[in-house]
Amino acid sequence: MSTAPSHDVSFTQPEYSAHAKAALGRKPALFINNEWVQSTHGATLAVEDPSTGREIARIVDASDADVDRAVNAARTAFDDGRWSHLPPMARERAILKLADLIEAHTAEFAELEAIDNGKPVGMATVVDVPGAVQHLRYMAGWTSKLGGDLVEPQGLPRGTVFSYVSREPVGVAAQIIPWNFPLLMACLKIAPALAAGCTLVLKPAEQTSITALRLADLVSQAGFPPGVINIITGNGHTAGAALVRHPGVDKIAFTGSTEVGKIINRDATATLKRVTLELGGKSPVVVMPDVNPEEVAAGAAGAIFFNSGQVCIAGSRLFAHRSVFDKVIEGISQATAFWKPRPSLDPQGHMGPLVSKEQLDRVMGYIEAGKRDGASVAVGGDTAGSSGYYVNPTILVDVKPSMSVVQEEIFGPVVVAQRFDDLEEVAKAANDTCFGLGAGIWTRDVSAMHRLAAKIKAGTVWGNCHAIIDPALPFGGFKQSGFGREQGRAGIDAYTELKTVIIKL
Ligand code: NAI
Ligand code: MG
Repeated sequence: MSTAPSHDVSFTQPEYSAHAKAALGRKPALFINNEWVQSTHGATLAVEDPSTGREIARIVDASDADVDRAVNAARTAFDDGRWSHLPPMARERAILKLADLIEAHTAEFAELEAIDNGKPVGMATVVDVPGAVQHLRYMAGWTSKLGGDLVEPQGLPRGTVFSYVSREPVGVAAQIIPWNFPLLMACLKIAPALAAGCTLVLKPAEQTSITALRLADLVSQAGFPPGVINIITGNGHTAGAALVRHPGVDKIAFTGSTEVGKIINRDATATLKRVTLELGGKSPVVVMPDVNPEEVAAGAAGAIFFNSGQVCIAGSRLFAHRSVFDKVIEGISQATAFWKPRPSLDPQGHMGPLVSKEQLDRVMGYIEAGKRDGASVAVGGDTAGSSGYYVNPTILVDVKPSMSVVQEEIFGPVVVAQRFDDLEEVAKAANDTCFGLGAGIWTRDVSAMHRLAAKIKAGTVWGNCHAIIDPALPFGGFKQSGFGREQGRAGIDAYTELKTVIIKL
C-alpha cells in the first residue's frame, strides 16, 4: 500500500542560494595548518545532492602523503604546546567563539547540510546546527574545570609521600565521522578533543564533507593556532585507514558501521592507540499495554522516520503489547503521511531522501529480503520520485526474530513490528541482538518502566520519548554498538591520560 506517485512535481528540489552555490563551487582543497592546501595527487570525489542524484561539487580524495601532512601538522602543534599550554580560559574562549560563528551562520550551514545529506532544511535548522553549537559550548566549559585530584596513599604512613593525579591531553586525535549528522558529528567530536588540549585531524564521510569544509573557514577566525584543527576529505578505506594506522596519531574516535569499527580497532592495535567507537544499533521501542496507542504511535513513528531512519539510535524494532498492537500499527501508518519524503530544500518537508544510491539499494535490498523471508509490508515498502533516493516510510509485520530485517541495521525508514505478552518476554526479545545502543520504553507504569530499564542492555534508555540527546549525558553502546562514551564528563575524559605523581618527602 503506497501513497507516493512516482512522477510528482513536488519532488523538484528548489534552487540553491548564492551562499550555497559559492560553497559548492570552491576548488577542492584540504585544511591543514589553518591553510587551504592542494592534494599531492589530483584525485577528487563527486559530491551529490541526494534529492536529485546530481553531482554538485567535488572534494579531494586525500592521498597517504596528504594524510601524513595533516597528522604532522597536528603532531607539531601538539608537541610544541601552542594549544595545550595556553591558559585553559583562552582555549575555552576559542571554542566558544567557534560556536558563536557557527550559530551566526545557521541558515547557511542548514542549507548546505540539507543539500549534501538530503535531510530537510527545517530539521537541519532546529536539530543539526543548534546541536553542533550546544556540544561546543558544553565542552568549552570543561576546559577550565577539568582539574586533577589530590589523592593520599593509603598503605603508607601519613606525611611520608605527597601524591596527586593530574590529567593531560592524550595527544593527536584522528576523528572519523559518518554522513548522517555531518556538522553535528564534527562538532561533537572536535569539542572534547579541543577542550582537553588535544590537536586533531577530522575526516568527514566522503558522501557529506561540505559542512566540515565550511566549518574550516571559521577556525582561524575563532582564534585556533595553525595545526590544532585539520580537516581532510577522502575515502574511508584509503584516507581513513591511513589516518588510523599513522604512528603520529594517539587516539581514534570513530562513529560509523560496526563492520568498519572492527577494522579500525584492529588497525589501531599496532601502536596501541586509544580508541572510542560509536557504532550501529537496532534499538527496540517497547510499548506496554497501559498506554494511549494513538499518542505513542506518533512517538514511535518519529523514532524510526526521523532523518529517514539513518540514525544509529533509530527505533527500528517495535514491540507492542498484543492488546495495543493493531492500534499502534494503525497510528504509525497514519503518521507516515507526515513523514512522506520530500526534497531537502522543501520548507514543508519532514523527511528527505536517503543519502546515496548505495544506501537506497541497501535499504530496498533489506525490504526485499524481508518479503522473501515471509514478512508483510503494512505500509510503504517502495521508492518515491523519479530521481533522487527517496524511500517511503515502511512498516514490516509478520516478522520472525531470525530474519535479517530484525537482526541487522537497515539504516532507513523501515520498522519491524512484533507483538508480545509480558515484560519478561519482551525484555528477552529486546536483547536478542548483537547491538546495545538505545532503547525506548512507553508506559505510565513506573514499576514496569524501571524493571524494563534495568533489564535492557543498552547505553541509553528513553522513557516515553526517543532519541533525546544532551551534551551533558554520556552516550555510547553496550555489546557491538561500540565502546567508550562520548558527551558529559566521560566524553572529555576519553581525550585525557591520567598521570600519577608520587614524591617522597
Ligand atoms: P562506514 O562505517 O563505512 O563509514 C563511516 C566513516 O568511516 C566514513 O567517514 C568512512 O570514510 C570511514 N571509513 C570507512 N572505512 C574505513 C576504514 N577502513 N578505515 C577508516 N575509516 C573508514 O559506513 P557506510 O559504509 O557509509 O554505511 C554503511 C552502514 O553503516 C550503514 O548502512 C549503517 O548501517 C552503518 N552506519 C552507522 C552509522 C552510525 O551512526 N552508527 C553511521 C553511518 C553508517
Ligand atoms: Mg563503508
